[in-house]
Amino acid sequence: MRTQVGIIGAGPAGLLLSHLLHLRGIESVVLESRGREQIESTIRAGVLEPGTVKLLTDSGVGARLAAEGIVHHGFELAFDGKRRRIDLTELTGESITVYAQHEVLKDLVAARLVANGALYFNVSGTAISGVDTDSPSIRFTHDGVEQMLQCDFVIGCDGSQGVSRAAMPAALRQDYERVFPFGWFGILVEGPPSSDELIYARHDRGFALVSTRSPNVQRMYFQCDPKDSVDNWSDDRIWSEMHARVDSDEGHQIVEGKIFQKNIVGMRSFVSTKMQHGRLFLAGDAAHIVPPTGAKGLNLAASDVRILTGALDGIYQGGRRDLLDGYSETALKRIWRAEHFSYWMTRLMHRLDDASAFEQRLQVAELEYVTTSRSASAALAENYAGVVAV
Ligand code: PHB
Repeated sequence: MRTQVGIIGAGPAGLLLSHLLHLRGIESVVLESRGREQIESTIRAGVLEPGTVKLLTDSGVGARLAAEGIVHHGFELAFDGKRRRIDLTELTGESITVYAQHEVLKDLVAARLVANGALYFNVSGTAISGVDTDSPSIRFTHDGVEQMLQCDFVIGCDGSQGVSRAAMPAALRQDYERVFPFGWFGILVEGPPSSDELIYARHDRGFALVSTRSPNVQRMYFQCDPKDSVDNWSDDRIWSEMHARVDSDEGHQIVEGKIFQKNIVGMRSFVSTKMQHGRLFLAGDAAHIVPPTGAKGLNLAASDVRILTGALDGIYQGGRRDLLDGYSETALKRIWRAEHFSYWMTRLMHRLDDASAFEQRLQVAELEYVTTSRSASAALAENYAGVVAV
């Protein structure tokens, strides 16, 4: 089997890349180890930057997003018993859209299938070879049959635990990592929203976040021990923790509902450079991870893929190599900006293990500053909306 671009992983990066390449007349094959049902139902992030919305819309997969996505013009910061609003639209002219990642995936899978795109689910034994040569290949097993996919380029979109990054020569790779000593306890709730906008809460007991999925389904998180078990948390205990962290002295109260899913996720920051070697290129979580506080993960995957599409188009249509040669450097500018922002926001909002009473008051002082100074709130807003120049 032969194609132009072999893509490993059918997450947001892999599927969007395959779709965008198709629009430019470039052929690809996507290999995914999980099943279609699994990728279309796994609950992940939910905030799309305006640039991501535009990319999806301009490429023809924005219809459901336009109908079902919820546009937010700002968000709230809760701290010290009060709530203060960051007006994204006033500060940046932009808004964000709440639309779940697995809904984006459904739209992309549907678009690939309509276009007869080659999409293989439940693939095993994926192995990359020849990335130093002009004809790299991917070996994989599908439906019990071992196959060999010859391609011009291999793009690794298979996440932080995938085979693609492991195929980068260790001697050429540099990894940067910070693992946080806390996690997020996530709940899905059937019930009405607590607020028109997302609420990020900093409290001495720990961080909490109130987000949404639809008018009837809410998404909430609170900071927890990453080794804790969901079994230790009854619904009553969860609600009393959420109330303690998010309710304000000004009379705001979160609205309870029926909890129908609980999960715990760890938090880390990670960047692996370079993102390319020979004919192998990494995109999305395969190359970088951000803690979810800044809601950047999916948006960074989209920005990698946008850059990569232009670079591959440069090769196939324009006969130029410089864009592809510069991919890692170009992508890493935005990635490091988002890494810094996510790390900053994580440390601003969470109860830090080593935080003394002094550092805790500094967090509150900084929150006072970013919610009162126009230049400080504008810096937060442009980073959150992802419209900062890089
Ligand atoms: C979510 O809705 O899942 C969500 C929203 C904002 C974040 C992280 C996750 O910063």
